[in-house]
Amino acid sequence: MSASKKVYLFANWKMYLDYDESNILANAVAAASSDFATKIKMVVFPSSLSFYPVAQALGDVGIVSGAQNIHFEDKGGFTGENSALMYKNAGAKFTLIGHSERRHLFGETNHEVHQKMEAALLVGLVPVLCVGETAKERKGDKAKDVVEVQLRAALDGLKWKPKAKLFIAYEPVWAIGTGKNCDPVEAEKMCLMIENMAKALAKDVEIIILYGGSVNGGNIKEFIKQPNINGVLVGGASAKLDTWLQIVQNAC
Ligand code: 13P
Repeated sequence: MSASKKVYLFANWKMYLDYDESNILANAVAAASSDFATKIKMVVFPSSLSFYPVAQALGDVGIVSGAQNIHFEDKGGFTGENSALMYKNAGAKFTLIGHSERRHLFGETNHEVHQKMEAALLVGLVPVLCVGETAKERKGDKAKDVVEVQLRAALDGLKWKPKAKLFIAYEPVWAIGTGKNCDPVEAEKMCLMIENMAKALAKDVEIIILYGGSVNGGNIKEFIKQPNINGVLVGGASAKLDTWLQIVQNAC
């Protein structure tokens, strides 16, 4: 990675932290921010319950926040859901879309992923589209096909505003939360392929590719030195101050 390239470090706190824990971590990250603010671009994805105070605490030091998931309708009888519009009004700038835990644990379909992409673009949230294959699909030599289907379904026919940005996180399902990260050179190959496919599907859009799956302080450098990996989306290691700051410091 060239020195001029900005590194994106995205923290997906998933459902790891309760309200108090989220606020404590947000304030601690904010307090440490002067050490890294100019070197990296950090986005934090807290739980919906903690979103507002976390976004406020981080926003005070220039760190932006995003939604882990959105509903594609603005308002209505959708118990337990939060819309893209609601997140936007609460200060979100980004949203994850199609995270593999949404796809595999909650049955989110490629069609729903597309609807969420549309909703995000409509309200002006920057989408972080997540794609990736399961272990079985990789063993069956289907990784590229699966990712291509996910990209096509999500991106085909979307209407982009001028100067739009699209983040795509390549997160192989088998590498998420397992401690077994994808080999960085293999991840680079997949990320390059994803970038080329996405460029054809989202013309005139700035596309930024991230890797996610068991990223930690020990392997971060190997990922961000790959030419087509612009940053990382981190789960477990982003939800604890020491492991997150280790990643941040090593990325800097
Ligand atoms: P882990 O970093 O815990 O493997 O999670 C990755 C992830 O799913 C980020 O969205």
